Amino acid sequence: MRPKITIVGAGNVGATTAHWMVTRELGDVVLTDIVEGVPQGKGLDLFEATPIARKDVRVTGANGYDETANSDLVVITAGFPRKPGMSRDDLLKKNYEVMQSTIEKVVALSPNAILILVTNPLDAMAQAAFRLSKFSRNRVIGMAGVLDSARFAAFIAQELEVSVENIQAFVLGGHGDTMVPLPRYTTVAGVPLTELLPAEKIEALVKRTRNGGGEIVALLKSGSAYYAPAAAVCEMAEAILRDKKKILPCAAYLEGEYGIRGLFIGVPCKLGARGIESVIEVKLTAEEQAQLRKSADAVQELTTVLGV
Ligand code: APR
Repeated sequence: MRPKITIVGAGNVGATTAHWMVTRELGDVVLTDIVEGVPQGKGLDLFEATPIARKDVRVTGANGYDETANSDLVVITAGFPRKPGMSRDDLLKKNYEVMQSTIEKVVALSPNAILILVTNPLDAMAQAAFRLSKFSRNRVIGMAGVLDSARFAAFIAQELEVSVENIQAFVLGGHGDTMVPLPRYTTVAGVPLTELLPAEKIEALVKRTRNGGGEIVALLKSGSAYYAPAAAVCEMAEAILRDKKKILPCAAYLEGEYGIRGLFIGVPCKLGARGIESVIEVKLTAEEQAQLRKSADAVQELTTVLGV
């Protein structure tokens, strides 16, 4: 049987995620959204593309949850995107209400699913979903690090004029202005980035990565990024559904790893059929550890406001 995937929120990120998933033939996709007709229309349109794409998957849309029952994977993109001048944190309370109205319904019908959270502010929404779902920590995963490291990798490839395939970028921390790109662990064909570029050049790329989401918002004027975020979700979904045991940076609920307890934050995780199969701990310098702590404190401020 093909895996069943539910995507809650059939907006830009949700629909584009469905699109990438169809192209990788990851499973049957159900899109659900509160807007009448939109998930059904986008689902049907995508399904009609499958004979051309030569992919044997079904894509359907719904406004409720019955159709989502027994999903293996649930991706939550429902919420409101950032508008220009609005920080991810401004979205906090608005999107928490969306979590409250979606998570309990979706997990009641798919009690064995693995959840991937996309809604911003990401780390806080992942924590809200973790509390609301009451799932074990391996089954609630936030998408941020794959996107942030892809942005870092894209900028490095452009700077060095090398293939994107040569870049292994490494980003830790929360999905926000305090994220912690780690040039020391970022390699180009196995060579540390710190050997290839001067410190000030690296710092400029790090800065652009930190502002990666904001750069797109400023260009689009209405709405936020969706091609790369959706591709990042798909990478995580594939690692889980095909049990690849792939190490990817994800927002995970830490229980003492990296000296952090009781909080979602971006760390390298091994993703496979059980979701997060392990959190990988790497050695950090005192400065990197301090940056991670600062990032965790920023996430903690939000979770405290929400009481999650
Ligand atoms: N239940 C289901 N769908 C909902 C709900 C809800 N309670 N509330 C909102 N939605 C839907 C909206 O109707 C909309 O179709 O979520 C969708 C969000 O889509 P977009 O507005 O296009 O936003 P998008 O760019 O997809 O971003 C979604 O992902 O990257 C993050 O910051 C981004 O939090 C935002 C989320």
